[in-house]
Amino acid sequence: MATQEEVFKNLVSHCKEYGFVFPSSEIYDGLGAVYDYGQNGVELKNNIKQYWWASMTKLHENIVGIDAAIFMHPTTWKASGHVDAFNDPLIDNRDSKKRYRADVLIEDQIAKYDEKIQKEVEKAHKRFGESFDEQMFRQTNPRVIEHQQKRDALHERYSKAMNANDLDELKQIILDEQIVCPISGTRNWTDVRQFNLMFSTEMGSTSDGAMKIYLRPETAQGIFVNFLNVQKTGRMKIPFGIAQIGKAFRNEIVARQFVFRMREFEQMEMQFFVRPGDEMRWFDFWKQFRLKWHKALGLGDEKYRFHDHEKLAHYANAATDIEFLMPFGFKEVEGIHSRTDFDLSQHAKYSGKKIEYFDPELNKSYTPYVIETSIGVDRMFLSVMCSAYKEEQLEGGDSRVVLSLPPVLAPVKACVMPLVRKDGLPEKAREVMDLLRFDFNIQYDEKDSIGKRYRRQDAIGTPFCITIDHDTLDDNCVTVRYRDTMKQDRIAISELHELVRSQCDMTNLLRKLI
Ligand code: GAP
Repeated sequence: MATQEEVFKNLVSHCKEYGFVFPSSEIYDGLGAVYDYGQNGVELKNNIKQYWWASMTKLHENIVGIDAAIFMHPTTWKASGHVDAFNDPLIDNRDSKKRYRADVLIEDQIAKYDEKIQKEVEKAHKRFGESFDEQMFRQTNPRVIEHQQKRDALHERYSKAMNANDLDELKQIILDEQIVCPISGTRNWTDVRQFNLMFSTEMGSTSDGAMKIYLRPETAQGIFVNFLNVQKTGRMKIPFGIAQIGKAFRNEIVARQFVFRMREFEQMEMQFFVRPGDEMRWFDFWKQFRLKWHKALGLGDEKYRFHDHEKLAHYANAATDIEFLMPFGFKEVEGIHSRTDFDLSQHAKYSGKKIEYFDPELNKSYTPYVIETSIGVDRMFLSVMCSAYKEEQLEGGDSRVVLSLPPVLAPVKACVMPLVRKDGLPEKAREVMDLLRFDFNIQYDEKDSIGKRYRRQDAIGTPFCITIDHDTLDDNCVTVRYRDTMKQDRIAISELHELVRSQCDMTNLLRKLI
């Protein structure tokens, strides 16, 4: 049986082999933590974006969308706090010359204690079998107690250092915990220093007149600076939201786990503007709505959990992550933040413009508070792929790789296959394609044996394969083969559209949210 790590490695290869994700500029050996989406990846990604966009804008009369530019006036980032505080703590190993995030090294160390505890629990479980009382074991086993105490002490010390921005203490923790560089194996560490994650470039033709500008590290600021534009032109009444999908850029120091942490990625963000004092009610509303959005896809309710932030950003009064169980543990896919009036107030201060809302019901003006939902398209893509990817052993010693994607997200909804490339079957297959292609993404395949064609479609997650054979010419029926069960049905061509629609139409999914 393959380990989770091996399965994840296979998934990454699969993504490349079947046109989902390629390393960027691969012919030049790639570019660190930058990826391109291939012919199937882009379809899956577009379907995810469409699901999110429709759930925000179509299902909420008071949410509208925008598409702001990536380049923004540089003062935006001064006002938002990114120029001064969008930093990660960095540390270098002098022997390997490798650079690490100090916080990640310490978090990995905490995870090691957790693993040790888990191993003890599993060992004991095997030994005691059915009668094993895990809670009692955790409370009384001396080795578990010792690991737990060390873990908790480390966690507390680390949280304190992070909250106080104490870089010396972070280094001291690394030394005290005897954390070694995974490459050189030594503890020859430099001091910890802050590293700003924004990419910058110059706008303008001469170096004299050129202005330093940044590639946006989040899409949210494009929404904040357009608050008045949208509110006034759309005659929006509070509470209301503005949604946006777009690229964001961060010079991540530790870029790993495939598309989980990238330097160029895509966000789907929604800022919901509310009356001051109403924010906790809306924070809870959006937490529940967003979790429902995830669960409606049917990837498995047990794979999600909320993780409330202990350390709040200086502008937030509540924050939580929706985490998904990836092969490398529960990881953040989405953040939901109560950002108070920080961003709008800062932009008012730095621009000198009044950014307020006149509330006719209260007969007064105020700076709205904001609840933000922010999800990474790429992380969502990864969570969908991780839950869909399966290596199956079949009867008769055969095996297959299948992507059990939710049909609404599948890149290709159905593949139409003439049994042979003659006798009028290809022509009949084209007729069937024409019945479906205007509403669904359909492929045509006439190469190789039917078995091989099925495998190719399984590998990209196509829910239906439709085979046209000689009988089709007489009875106008086709063989439909289902991806997950591999069962086959004979059905009338006239019923095909409804069959595909019933599984693949986004409307059914959206209905689950209201
Ligand atoms: N506007 C709020 C904001 O940007 P964030 O928690 O830094 O908050 C939101 O990012 C989401 O964007 C994350 O939950 C994650 O899904 C995605 N994200 C952030 N950094 C990323 C990266 N380097 N690569 C891929 N996705 C990333």
